[in-house]
Amino acid sequence: MTTVVTGATGHVGRLALEALLARGVAPAELVATGRRVDTLGDLAALGVAVRRADYDDPATLDDAFAGATQLLFVSGSEVGARLQQHRAVVDAAVRAGVRHLVYTSGPRADISTLPVNADHKATEEYIAASGIPATILRNNWYSENYLPDLATARAGGEIVSATGTGRIASASRADYAEGAAVVLTEHGHEHKVYELGGDSAWDYDELVATLSQLVGHQVTRRDAAPQERHAQLLAGGLPEEVAAFVVGIETAIAHGALADVTGDLSRLIGRPTVPLATTLAAG
Ligand SMILES: NC(=O)c1ccc[n+]([C@@H]2O[C@H](COP(=O)([O-])OP(=O)(O)OC[C@H]3O[C@@H](n4cnc5c(N)ncnc54)[C@H](OP(=O)(O)O)[C@@H]3O)[C@@H](O)[C@H]2O)c1
Repeated sequence: MTTVVTGATGHVGRLALEALLARGVAPAELVATGRRVDTLGDLAALGVAVRRADYDDPATLDDAFAGATQLLFVSGSEVGARLQQHRAVVDAAVRAGVRHLVYTSGPRADISTLPVNADHKATEEYIAASGIPATILRNNWYSENYLPDLATARAGGEIVSATGTGRIASASRADYAEGAAVVLTEHGHEHKVYELGGDSAWDYDELVATLSQLVGHQVTRRDAAPQERHAQLLAGGLPEEVAAFVVGIETAIAHGALADVTGDLSRLIGRPTVPLATTLAAG
């Protein structure tokens, strides 16, 4: 059994490899892939095979996936441009004869209007059409996404968003990665879709209360209307399309796009998910 992991040069892919090793998978059965493979020397030293894989270069994918039984496919980071890359990964998985493909998707990717989800929905459909038995891991937000807010709070800044009272069922990257490792090491997860996230959802008032505890002073929050938030992000130097993307995400959050608490992740990993405050304190 050979398990190939894409995105191993990034956070989740590396954490998934660490979780697979912790669950007793032999290093010789693991292949760590990415573009910046020079960052994977410690895994190579353990006996994990390291291969270069570039989603834009199918030949590298054929080399990287050779002999793969299972593939953990970590979604690419170029939102809006990654669908072609994702199709190339799935096509290469078909050519390699992968028997189980595990894909990191987005929350409610089939029906949600969250701006990151169009690529995920189309990728899920492409995977389904490929015929490879698959597990879809629809990951809610990472708690680590809020580390910049912790830095803002430490610096005495105000937390501004257009999220209203929208709730976010975030979990740590390590929790999601462990969920992926469970799916790759247990039988019976093929043809399943999991809506993964934290055991509780929080809103920005609760985020600010958590930040206040961590920094030791009262942090202030301002809930901005979408247009005001957009103008604020532009004034802060963000390009127009990035500002629009952030406002789109925050508006979707305000409408409940990340609010679902499903329990799928804690059921998979057999323990409660790590609370937001713990992840932020460790970051
Ligand atoms: N749920 C959330 O809150 C959230 C937040 C951000 C992102 N995401 C999604 O979750 C994924 C994993 O998150 P993360 O924190 O681990 O991200 P990350 O640390 O930025 O890692 C992204 C990984 O994707 C690889 N990658 C990107 N484009 C690639 C390409 N063209 N060819 C080959 N590899 C490519 C990178 O490889 P190299 O570094 O070697 O180029 C890297 O290993 C992200 O890529 C994104 O799709 C989710």
